Amino acid sequence: MRALPILALALVTAGCEWVNPMLQQPKVKPYRKSVFYPDQIAMRAPPPGTVPAGAPVETATTTGRDAAGAPVARIPVPVTPEILELGRKRYDVFCAVCHGVLGDGQGPVARNMSIRPPPSLLQIGARPDGFFFTAITEGYGYMPSYRPWLGDEERWAVVAYVRALQLSQGARIEQVPPDVRARLEKENR
Ligand code: HEC
Repeated sequence: MRALPILALALVTAGCEWVNPMLQQPKVKPYRKSVFYPDQIAMRAPPPGTVPAGAPVETATTTGRDAAGAPVARIPVPVTPEILELGRKRYDVFCAVCHGVLGDGQGPVARNMSIRPPPSLLQIGARPDGFFFTAITEGYGYMPSYRPWLGDEERWAVVAYVRALQLSQGARIEQVPPDVRARLEKENR
């Protein structure tokens, strides 16, 4: 109960310019006119190039583009068996429904999409690695961006796996390492 008079006093003085000098200082109010700025707009836009404190720094590894904006030629992170395995998992979850488990564009969704069926990813092997990364990061035509769901490393992992799918479709037996080749030939007999 003792807090009540103090609270009442605080409420009364909060609106009083004599007690609260913050109310007296020159300032502009939101959406009001300002005589200070030449364009008279009180609410100022941040200067060009301003970034929020703590904002992620965009690099080729996060955008897939070099300083000139062109897609980078090669995956900028080390491609390891673990990365390929991560890529397979994410591809199967996020891409296979449309582009097919093999990347051939024969996913279950694709069969029912009439406007623009998802294309096969196998015939576009000549594109730079960054092309696939920017397609996932920014979206591509009717395809949305997957950046909200896949981190930078996960997106590069998917690119590495798409490369593996492309390779798997056109590889010749001579390209296979000898130990694996022996096993494949045995299986094929
Ligand atoms: C909902 C269906 C759908 C999903 C899921 C999807 N895509 Fe796509 N994707 C499309 C469609 C449709 C296009 C063609 C868009 C257009 O041309 O307007 C496309 C285009 C692309 C292209 C450009 C192909 C070219 O021929 O230029 C790439 C690369 C690609 N997708 C990769 C991916 C990857 C990697 C994933 C998973 C992270 C993915 N997509 C998930 C539907 C999908």
